[in-house]
Amino acid sequence: MGLDGPLDLSEALGSSNPSDLKGCEILKEKRKEKRMSRKIHVFDTTLRDGEQVPGAKLNKSQKIEIAHQLARLGVDVIEAGFPCSSPGDLQAVKAVSEQVKGPVIAGLARAVEQDIDAVWEAVKGADRPRIHVFLGSSDVHLQKKLRRDRESAVQMAVDAVRYAKRYCEDVEYSTEDASRTDFEYLCRVVDAVIHAGATVVNIPDTVGYAVPEEFGDLIRRLREHVPALDKVTLSVHCHNDLGLAVSNSMAAIRNGAEQVECTINGMGERAGNASLEEITMILRTRHGSYDAHTDIRTEEIYRTSRMVSRLMNIPVQPNKAIVGANAFSHSSGIHQDGILKDRSTYEIMRPEDVGIRQNKIVLTARSGRAALRHRLSDLGYTLEDDQFERVYNRFLHVADRKKEIGSQDLSSIVEIELTKVPETFTFHSLQIMSGNSMVPLASITLTKATEKLTDAATGNGPVDAAFACIERIVGQQGILRDYDLKAVTMGKDALGEAMVRVEIGDTVYSGIGTSPDVIEASARAYLNAYNRFFANSH
Ligand code: KIV
Ligand code: ZN
Repeated sequence: MGLDGPLDLSEALGSSNPSDLKGCEILKEKRKEKRMSRKIHVFDTTLRDGEQVPGAKLNKSQKIEIAHQLARLGVDVIEAGFPCSSPGDLQAVKAVSEQVKGPVIAGLARAVEQDIDAVWEAVKGADRPRIHVFLGSSDVHLQKKLRRDRESAVQMAVDAVRYAKRYCEDVEYSTEDASRTDFEYLCRVVDAVIHAGATVVNIPDTVGYAVPEEFGDLIRRLREHVPALDKVTLSVHCHNDLGLAVSNSMAAIRNGAEQVECTINGMGERAGNASLEEITMILRTRHGSYDAHTDIRTEEIYRTSRMVSRLMNIPVQPNKAIVGANAFSHSSGIHQDGILKDRSTYEIMRPEDVGIRQNKIVLTARSGRAALRHRLSDLGYTLEDDQFERVYNRFLHVADRKKEIGSQDLSSIVEIELTKVPETFTFHSLQIMSGNSMVPLASITLTKATEKLTDAATGNGPVDAAFACIERIVGQQGILRDYDLKAVTMGKDALGEAMVRVEIGDTVYSGIGTSPDVIEASARAYLNAYNRFFANSH
């Protein structure tokens, strides 16, 4: 929450009674402390480092949608992409720069003119553009990757920053693989790029090699040895190969880092990046321990996490801190008993603080358009008329089979409908014959324009049969690379949500589908991946 946000007692007391005067006093004290604490800038790189996950590629409109949500979340910087990587990414970063207002919009460039030109072309339309330049600094990067000596690499860094400065006042410089770089040399590079005009210096733990004590120490020693760092923003960027990305970022904050680079759900190369939601909630829940805060609107965290997971088609593990399905559910009897007596016994944060709504109101197939509209607006969705009609039709379809539709079901329906690709083939119906002593058989009907196409196929199981049948109808074979199925809510009649990643040709396409019937959810997800393939091929 920002300093001007509404009074929130949970900040002070967790589950205390809002009418408690003592609580108000504590809260005022807390807010005074917060005013005096250091602001940590949140640099979100979900759209760049996060997007480097295989199969998670976003198109322009998906990037814009996530970027708008990141702005609502209150991040300070959005790294929208790597414009030189493809003309499509350049256009996507350009669109984000022109349409998303509030945060600084950054684009990544290697330390070469052609990359810097592309970033400027992409971010120049932003109200607050930033060029982010990086170059390896460790000996292994210099010798094995760049084939340069230290001397010429410092010169290359300085030249790149000076070149970027001709376009843009705000230039960030990253010393790639900093945590494995010789300390004296790292100080030299940092000092040189600041004198060349860098406004932000970023220290990445590119390969996730650092451990917290050592990384915190590195940040403290850098501050001591490079006085020029006082004139710029000192940033860190940690990867999670040893599961320490958040711990390393926190150690860096404690030792003087002022910006953290992170991603939603910890998405990113290999084991991922530091998770935005974890860093933010640590600073909020353990504020006294760090004396630092962010301006993140934490109530937007859950929705952002869901959106990123759906659009990138990467499920969130159930036990993931802050946003996992089990993060706030108490299953043992002792814990449940404690929670019922007083939530503070086993809860250090409230689900509402991260935007998980506990609304018990449910809709049924007879609820009608007005009730659905009302519920959607309660959940924060504003839909165009045609979007609303699509959601309404799907809602009726699901509600026919699942009697009660709760908030999470509704969010799942809306988000899937809104993120659909143009459909070359539309799902019509499915029949399955399966059992433990027969070969499973699927018969599926799809529509293409006005034509109905029906076929049948067998498989190792009913899902395999359904996938084989879809391949026969669309006339294209793929390799299933990933398959995930989960229940959106608790209960036997829960809505199933399937996510797949399918290699078709030389590209991996993701797909998502939902239905009370898990085989149908899987078939819809598979078809969704094929529709992405066809949309991409036209
Ligand atoms: O991990 C890394 O070093 C990076 C840089 C480009 C900042 O992503
Ligand atoms: Zn990275």
